[in-house]
Amino acid sequence: MSFPIHRPRRLRRTEALRGMVRETQLTANGLIYPMFACPGIKVRKEVRSMPGIYQQSPDQVVEECREVVDLGIPAVILFGLPEKKDEAGSQAVSVTGAVQRSIEAIRKAKLNLLVVTDVCLCEYTSHGHCGVIENGEIANDPSIALLADAALSHARAGADIVAPSDMMDGRVAAIRRKLDENKFTDVAIISYAAKYCSAFYGPFREAADSTPQFGDRRSYQMDPANAREALREVALDLEEGADIIMVKPALPYLDVIARVHERFDVPLAAYNVSAEFSMVKAAAAKGWIDEKRIVIEIITSIQRSGASIILTYHAKDLARWLPRC
Ligand code: PBG
Repeated sequence: MSFPIHRPRRLRRTEALRGMVRETQLTANGLIYPMFACPGIKVRKEVRSMPGIYQQSPDQVVEECREVVDLGIPAVILFGLPEKKDEAGSQAVSVTGAVQRSIEAIRKAKLNLLVVTDVCLCEYTSHGHCGVIENGEIANDPSIALLADAALSHARAGADIVAPSDMMDGRVAAIRRKLDENKFTDVAIISYAAKYCSAFYGPFREAADSTPQFGDRRSYQMDPANAREALREVALDLEEGADIIMVKPALPYLDVIARVHERFDVPLAAYNVSAEFSMVKAAAAKGWIDEKRIVIEIITSIQRSGASIILTYHAKDLARWLPRC
């Protein structure tokens, strides 16, 4: 019946028409670029499985941040590698830690940049788990106290936003309370609310040197088979005081992003994680794909599914490819 009256191709005829009816406009506004800070000075070591991504000392972090600002990217998220690891991840709160030092250096350089910090223990613990171990288990309640201290140390160094990625229960409330008690009421929280136990974190664990030394993260990160449970995790984190919600990984969980977006009227972030990046880089290096088109299509799909904030290692490339506004 509809044809020949209706011809959707009419609106695809020229770029001007396509631009006029385009539903998703990619901009750099929601991009967050992840960076790995390590101890030392003048250290810049490329991560083997993540071309173009480096472990670098605070002085080098600032230099790359200048580039990030020039590209129109509004924010970075910092991950830290400690001088040494121990059972309780005690270096996570060190005032001289690579993350704390990097934040201070960015502040000192007066860069117009939002600084987000990842709050977790896995980079700092000798066993590589995101919490402390008691009787062979990852102990929830003692871990959240340590995470809150780590978040406070980031706030003291000058972070704008802290982002707990550990998946312990109750950590958002513990962090909010700790920040407020110390007068950091304006430091916001992005919670990794629906974080799945994913093989897509593989290259990151090389970058952050955070591979668990025994077992896996299934007792705290979510089962990839569950979507309704993500809604419950999000609801709990919002009750506890999260300002922004995150779903992670992004591409294999677009359905979860869409459902969270539909249900909750809060800013929604998605993390286009390390293996999502490495797979594209590897295929591009082999000449099997058109990297630019693939990246734009992937990031568009994440935004189209409902995430307005996207953490991605492609951020700098993408910002170069997007029209500046
Ligand atoms: C720390 C953390 C991880 C990532 C972000 N924060 C790894 C993990 O949970 O094992 C993964 C990010 C990526 O793969 O790019 N808990």
